[in-house]
Order: sequence, then structure tokens, then C-alpha cells
Amino acid sequence: MNVRPRINRWTESRRDLIFSSSIKSSLVQPHFVVEGDGVDKEISSMPGIKRQSVDILLKTIRSDMEIGITSHMLFAVIDSHQKDGKATIASSDKMHLQDAVRRLKEEYGDKIVIMTDVCLCTATDHGHCGIIDHDHRISNDATIDELCKIALSHAKAGADYVSASDMMDGRINSIRQALEQNGYTSTGIMSYSVKYASAFYGPFRDAADSSPEFGDRNSHQMDYRSGYEEAILESMEDQNEGADILMIKPAIAYLDVVRKVKDKVYRPVAVYNVSGEYSMIMNSFDGKSRDSVIIEILNSFKRAGADVIVSYHSRDILSRNLLG
Ligand code: PBG
Repeated sequence: MNVRPRINRWTESRRDLIFSSSIKSSLVQPHFVVEGDGVDKEISSMPGIKRQSVDILLKTIRSDMEIGITSHMLFAVIDSHQKDGKATIASSDKMHLQDAVRRLKEEYGDKIVIMTDVCLCTATDHGHCGIIDHDHRISNDATIDELCKIALSHAKAGADYVSASDMMDGRINSIRQALEQNGYTSTGIMSYSVKYASAFYGPFRDAADSSPEFGDRNSHQMDYRSGYEEAILESMEDQNEGADILMIKPAIAYLDVVRKVKDKVYRPVAVYNVSGEYSMIMNSFDGKSRDSVIIEILNSFKRAGADVIVSYHSRDILSRNLLG
């Protein structure tokens, strides 16, 4: 089975995230998770966002849950000595990210929605999102095998949605089959369906230590000069392959694409308000004018058609109840 519409209805927290029309329930807070104990380190390019070890992350998420942030996206940040050419560590059940997922699920069960990033770039020594073949190209199908292993390991830990951010062709189909064959029939897939090769990801790559050592991501992430047809094709393809949520990324510079895609697809649409967009606002505005700008932007995501909004601003805005 490729499409299981019940996945998005599985828990009340998933239904609230996806089907409620309010901005507040659409928000997802991203987190960067490192190994160790007591780590709570500012990321200089992303004011207010930190790298945290699992013990501190649990405290952060406890206070997030109290202010009504129930959806969380986790990214693993990995020590360079643990990286290799195949991102082997990323699919280890013993990794700190999987540990975080298990502990959060133990504590909050169905009350929390956990999304995990499924990509190779934070765990490869060359920083690319895939397996590099002999002529320095990213091998699509070899990469998919590794993505399936990572997705399965996250599903086993209890992730609600595995979020494929790699942009290999056909990976949603393979991940869906892997989940089905292993009995994970209520685990969702959030696909980064329309992900442009964007300069707006710069601060994230500092935070996640995932910059490519050579070359760029242009052979898999989308060309920002490409038209709506390409965006619609990618989204329809992922919809058919079994994605439960289709994402467009970045957000602010691509709201026209969000609307075009939303008008064509039958699955919920997410936007990722990415690191560069976040830093731009944080560095340009202060106080009340910053709040107003953020709220204006969040409204623009809704208007464009976003059902789900992944944003680093979530905590700041909800902690002061600025959405009413
Ligand atoms: C991993 C990934 C990236 C982002 C999310 N998942 C970086 C990239 O593609 O280089 C970017 C998120 C952000 O900028 O906030 N592939």
C-alpha cells in the first residue's frame, strides 16, 4: 500500500497539526541534537537557537509542550570523528537522535508529534546528501538504500514522521515500502518535495555541520530558475509515491510556488521557514517591530496555503502568546 490516509489522522496531535486552520497549531519547532551531557550551545548564525544534548533537549521540549508547541523536528548533529562516506552512524539505533525520540515518546506518547530529518549530509565526512560514486557524483539508488535504513531506525525509535530532505528521485516510494515491510504502518513520511538549491540554508549548515566539502547540491536540489511545472511534478510524484505531507522550502521567497502546488495536490502542504530567512529577520528587526514582521510572515504562509509551518520563530512567538 502506498497511500494510507489514516496516518495523518492517527493521533489527536497529528490531526491538530495538519487539519486545524489556526497558525498556532500549524507550527513545528526545529531542534539540533548533539551527543553528550549538559550541552546547551548557542549557534552564532542563528540567534536564540541552540545545539543541545538529549538531557537539555528534554527540558526544552517540556517547556515547549507547556506553551502549546506539540510538534517538533529533530536534526542530529554528529561529531566529525563519527562520520564516514556512507553516513553509517545515522541509521544506528544507538545514536543520540534515536535516543531522544525514544525518550520523548516514552514521556509524551501520542501527545507529541516528532519529525526526524532523514538525509545523509549531517553524517557523511564529505557533507553531501548522498553516496558519492567514483566520478564525484551522487549515486541516486545507493543513497536511497541508506535513506531507508535511517528512516527505519527513526520509525523504530517512535518518530511520527520521517522527513526525507535529500531530494533523491524515487526515495519516497522506497521508504514507504521499507516502512510497510517492517510493520510501521502508522509512521508518516513528510517529504521535502519542492526543495530548491538555496543560499538561504547557510546558517543551518553551520548549525548542523553539514556543508559540502566540495561542489554543491545543484544536481539534486531544484534549480530556483525552474518553473511551476517542475514544482508540481515533484509534489505529484511524492504524493503518488506515498508522502503524507508535501513540503516546499524555503518559504518566503517561494510563496507563489506554495499556492500553485497547494491548488494541485491532495495531500497537506508544509513550508519550511529556513535558517537564512530566520537570521535575516532576527538581525534586521528588534522588539515590537520584529514581532509584527514575524506575525505578518506567518500569516502569509497560511494565506499561500500552508497547512504545516516549520519555523525557528515558533517558540519565541508562542511563549509570549502573540498569536492570541
Ligand atoms: C538537510 C537539510 C537542510 C535543511 C534542512 N534539511 C540543509 C541542506 O539541504 O543543505 C535546511 C534547513 C534550514 O536552512 O533551516 N539536507
